[in-house]
Amino acid sequence: MTDTTLDELDVITAASYAEHGYPHDAWARLRAEDPVHRFAPEGYRPFWAITTAADITEVSRQPERFKSAGRFILIPDPPGFDPGAFDDNPPLRMLVNQDPPEHRDFRKLVSSWFTPRAIAQLEARLDDITAVLWDQLAERADGDGWVRADFVRDVAARQPLRMITEILGIPDEREEFVLRITNQNFGLEDPEFMLDGESVQEALAFIGEAFAYFDELLDERRADPRDDLSSVLAAAEIDGEPVPRFELYSLLFLVMVAGHDTTRNAISGGLLALHDHPDQLAALRRDPGLLATGADEIVRWTTPVNHFVRTATADYELHGTQIRAGDHLALFYASANRDEAVFDDPYAFRLDRSPNPHLGFGIGEHYCLGAHLARLDLKVFWRHFVERIEAFELDGPVELLASSFVGGPKHIPIRLKIRP
Ligand code: HEM
Repeated sequence: MTDTTLDELDVITAASYAEHGYPHDAWARLRAEDPVHRFAPEGYRPFWAITTAADITEVSRQPERFKSAGRFILIPDPPGFDPGAFDDNPPLRMLVNQDPPEHRDFRKLVSSWFTPRAIAQLEARLDDITAVLWDQLAERADGDGWVRADFVRDVAARQPLRMITEILGIPDEREEFVLRITNQNFGLEDPEFMLDGESVQEALAFIGEAFAYFDELLDERRADPRDDLSSVLAAAEIDGEPVPRFELYSLLFLVMVAGHDTTRNAISGGLLALHDHPDQLAALRRDPGLLATGADEIVRWTTPVNHFVRTATADYELHGTQIRAGDHLALFYASANRDEAVFDDPYAFRLDRSPNPHLGFGIGEHYCLGAHLARLDLKVFWRHFVERIEAFELDGPVELLASSFVGGPKHIPIRLKIRP
């Protein structure tokens, strides 16, 4: 590793994430030697890798100087790709690629559904959803109470998926559809999920499928409003005008996909962390109250959203390095979450870590809308887990998602011993 030059470090290819997981050694070197480092790997437009918590915070708190519109994640550009045309006509225009003042108007349409008070009211429902999940798995158990499963698909994905679809008012029978669209969205570079296609449009065909479904859903809610977020969005206005279809559907798309995939990855990654740290699992079994701090430690440890990109709107000096207008900056949240300048013993997984100023939910203008929901999902999930699961063991190799954008296990073959 030390023979490698900084330019040779791979912090970006999907194949490397699938094979090795997050490149924590590379980030540690970047933080120590060049925390604002310019990369120009083949197939990608150049970008600055921003790896310390302080620099990510400085950039994130200035959305006018560092915009989210345009390039917002790092993936290789397909041959013949025209970035200018793509940025002018993005396939989605949603909160994560909108900027103030427009961004604030759109965020206001949904924010009251995700306040701590609104989310606290969901706890009883989340309890039911989680209990049913374990009951259904218990039905498949053998005489000794053991059941085989893919923890990611059969367990971790289920509770956050059911909760966000209920908030949106998407019926149960559409869950598989939502799951497929989400996997295709976050698995753009993963051979298991990606759509083949010559053009960007073909590769992103799943967005059209989601929009066609939103047409149906919003028409239904206009005719017959219910107590769900889709009914609110069906009637939404900004400055007295109906919200344009493209932005409205993009917002719905974002809440739908961001609302469960990330939490699933935190649950799956949390399972592996507890598996690798039996002392922490034992502590949690003794005192589920540890989840008050533990949910955030699981988010810090797993950092399901690895990066987002900003584009400088003017020249700017960051950490002594000159950034030019138009340059792209990749904010590596997972690197910030091991930053020695912020965390005492950053490579230790400690459920009682406090304070825990991690950047797993981002910071500033685009701070995660669903952070309170994600925390509650995790608390309820792990509380039930220690009540219902007497023992578990891995039952085959863990496979990781091929993506540098969102990270985590894609499949975890497992055997679980469930209490009836
Ligand atoms: C552990 C789970 C989660 C993690 C790690 C996570 C992470 C993040 C991060 C890092 C951002 C910042 C994006 C940026 O910098 O541009 C973000 C934004 C966002 N998240 Fe989450 N998220 C999680 C769960 C959720 C849930 C449950 C929802 C459901 C509503 C959600 C909805 C959103 C939305 C709508 C945004 C965009 C906010 C904006 O641009 O103003 N997330 N999330």
